[in-house]
Amino acid sequence: MSNDPIYIFRKTWGTYQKVISHNLMYHKEITAAVRKLFQAHPGPLNIIDLGCGDAAHIGKILKPGQVAEYCGCDLSPYALDVARNNLEPFGVRVNLLCKDMIAVLKEAPANHFDLVYSGYALHHLPVEAKQAFFTQCRRVLRENGCVVLVDVMRVEGQERQEYLVDYNEAVANQWDALSRAERDEVQEHIRNCDFPETPSLLQSLAENAGLKNSRKLEKRTWHEAWCYQK
Ligand SMILES: C[S@@+](CC[C@H](N)C(=O)[O-])C[C@H]1O[C@@H](n2cnc3c(N)ncnc32)[C@H](O)[C@@H]1O
Repeated sequence: MSNDPIYIFRKTWGTYQKVISHNLMYHKEITAAVRKLFQAHPGPLNIIDLGCGDAAHIGKILKPGQVAEYCGCDLSPYALDVARNNLEPFGVRVNLLCKDMIAVLKEAPANHFDLVYSGYALHHLPVEAKQAFFTQCRRVLRENGCVVLVDVMRVEGQERQEYLVDYNEAVANQWDALSRAERDEVQEHIRNCDFPETPSLLQSLAENAGLKNSRKLEKRTWHEAWCYQK
């Protein structure tokens, strides 16, 4: 049950908000790096946000007038209800789909989006689905469009088991802003839901899909932001 996204949103979203407000996953630095990239693309842009959650972050990064069309998807209908409110100020066509991101990508029109964004969601998928993610991203992107991926990534050479031990140790020793019960909740979520890859593996999946010019935008411990271009 604890790896069910609907359960996660209802039961643990409050803890995630606390993680963000204390900058425990470096949202501040990552957001600043992504904002810098977005500033180079004034738009108006067609954007697809995969695993959008409540769309609070992308809502703060994008400027009014920068969005022509926003399509977001998430497995949690509760998250999408909040996203609808957070995206209201943009006053543009917002299409929110309660579906798996790979299914959404497969149904999306080819050569349509300027930007594919995904924040802290791709690590939930097995590696085959991550390859499908990049393959489909390339198909739905317009020429010169890009994928912006924010996610947890393993250190090069680090196995998943080591990652789980190291990350959970950091949660236990450094995430003092959370109560003991909240830290336990986070650690259980990590053990059940985190299947991160290394940056080089993600880069090779992107290159297999025909994406190029992979570049790192930011890295803070296991939290990274990358851009892959069509
Ligand atoms: C940690 S939240 C991140 C939300 C938002 N992108 C952000 O950066 O704040 C991860 C989100 O990914 C969603 N998710 C997980 N697996 C998914 C999948 N296969 N398809 C669509 N959404 C998924 C979860 O429901 C959850 O809302």
